Amino acid sequence: MENIYFGSGFSMTNISYEEILSIQRKVKIEDIVQDYVALTKKGKNYFGICPFHDDHNPSMSVSSEKQMYKCFVCGAAGNVFNFVSEYEKVSYFEAVKVVANKIGINISIDNEDKTKIIKSPLYDIYDISSKVYQNNLNTSYGKKAKLYLKNRKINDDIIQKFNIGLSTTNNELINILKNKGFTEEDILESGVCIKNNNYIHDLYKNRIMFPLTDLQGNIVAFSGRIYEDVDESKYINTMETKIFKKGNLLYNYHNAKKEARKNQSIIIVEGFMDVIRLSTIGINNVVATMGTAVTKEQISLIKRLAKEIIVMFDGDDAGDKATKSFIELFGNYECLKIVRLENNYDPDEYILKNGKDKMIYHLKHAVSVFDYKMESYKKNIDFNNSQDVSKYINLSLKEIENIDDDIVRNLEISKLSKLTNVSIEVLNSKINVKKKDIIVNRYKIKSGKGDKYNKASKYIIYNMIKNNNYILYYFDNLSFLPNEIDRKLANEIVLFYKKFNSFNLNDFIVYLGDKKELINLLIEIDSMDLLICENENDLQSYFKTIKEYLSSTKINNLQNELKSTSNEIKRKEIAKKIVEIKLKESM
Ligand code: UTP
Ligand code: MN
Repeated sequence: MENIYFGSGFSMTNISYEEILSIQRKVKIEDIVQDYVALTKKGKNYFGICPFHDDHNPSMSVSSEKQMYKCFVCGAAGNVFNFVSEYEKVSYFEAVKVVANKIGINISIDNEDKTKIIKSPLYDIYDISSKVYQNNLNTSYGKKAKLYLKNRKINDDIIQKFNIGLSTTNNELINILKNKGFTEEDILESGVCIKNNNYIHDLYKNRIMFPLTDLQGNIVAFSGRIYEDVDESKYINTMETKIFKKGNLLYNYHNAKKEARKNQSIIIVEGFMDVIRLSTIGINNVVATMGTAVTKEQISLIKRLAKEIIVMFDGDDAGDKATKSFIELFGNYECLKIVRLENNYDPDEYILKNGKDKMIYHLKHAVSVFDYKMESYKKNIDFNNSQDVSKYINLSLKEIENIDDDIVRNLEISKLSKLTNVSIEVLNSKINVKKKDIIVNRYKIKSGKGDKYNKASKYIIYNMIKNNNYILYYFDNLSFLPNEIDRKLANEIVLFYKKFNSFNLNDFIVYLGDKKELINLLIEIDSMDLLICENENDLQSYFKTIKEYLSSTKINNLQNELKSTSNEIKRKEIAKKIVEIKLKESM
């Protein structure tokens, strides 16, 4: 585990970068900041009055998507720990403790200066409950449930792999937990038992139990399914607690993570049973949204996992609707692929009915968002009805307009023309191609310090943040920036990338810990509106500017030397060096 190595009082402790990251992933910055400052939501972001300078206008924005705050007036910026540290005027480590506390984790330091992370008793309650449930499945009481699972083709291996269990009707859990010494208060807080008319009893009665885990794999809740013909809701989930927010996690995230990183692909389905069934055919890079509408938090978790993201929701209309909302919320379409299953099947049913090979075929042939949308516009269109066709053409052209590649765009137009019998000329006359704003190349670098070297420097860092392929390109081809703080930041980015083989802003800020100066600069650069280089050649032109700076400072130094030297031989040597540098520069 990687220990963070800086910060007063912080370096003495051995709380790891991973542990801090895991705490951060459990909180939302907007919730924590709201404990200190009133925020109002405008569009994607929250705004409030910045507590770090004297102001009456809401100049501080809090981004839920980026998990960062930034003040446009005083430049204060950072993540949730930086905010708390700054506000409470405590060390970074203290701030981590404060935030951890809010989600049921206590961090303390023992006499030997060792950091102890004491988790909320809820974690133990869930662990014990899960063991009890799992055990029940193997008793005579569990025979019926076992048969149900067997009929659904869930064998013992799968039961174990997903820690599936069974709750009973005899109210045993409350007694077991009490005997283990848990307080009534904690047991009730966990939600596995509830109180009715002063009488505490188990919440789950005679249900097949699926444990839900957080991003680290700790059990934080359960979902219980009926398995007999009873008139009750199919699944009951544990209520939300400080350690369980349904919208903040995905079923099977912890197991899918490694697999997804390995093959750079992640599949998103709706239900537990879909995840479980896919695992029986050897597909393990799968997470489930658990039925409800996907949230921003879930999207950002998924984005972190892999380059290719495959959405495979249920084949019914509800699944189609959910797919559309997912696409909307996801934003960037390039890495998204869609699978739609026939006959209203969900992935679980599909595999049972059609087998492994057909499922794999579907996944291999997942379509782009564009193709998915074009296909879905065709539904309910009567191609003999000109009103319908016109509607279809308008919808389709809206999509085609967004295609950057001229050739692809023209091919799509000719396809549309064939399908609708409307001439290419007419279609082209209706299209309004959105040219990418290459000319809009503004930079908000404050004037004064905005010389061309500074600008080039900011451009380079900006591009390293936005396209991580440029990180090693910078390392291999430049590895230098004139401005010391820019250079430090670029170095840290390179180090981080080399260490973790990937880069994302959020994790990097946690990694930077309390290096405030670097964090402020990083967030300032990230929020600039600069041009993203199309390729490495574009970036080279900024490298050239920096190299020019290097040679011009070298020449300056040499010229000064020349002035103060009278020795002819030395003067000749210096002159030769100057010529060499100038020659190299002109190459
Ligand atoms: P589904 O109704 O599609 O369930 O809901 P499923 O996954 O196909 O389950 P089986 O095959 O009937 O056993 C999808 C997901 O929505 C959540 C669950 O997470 C489920 O996996 N859900 C559904 C609930 O939380 N509560 C419900 O009452 C129903
Ligand atoms: Mn199902």
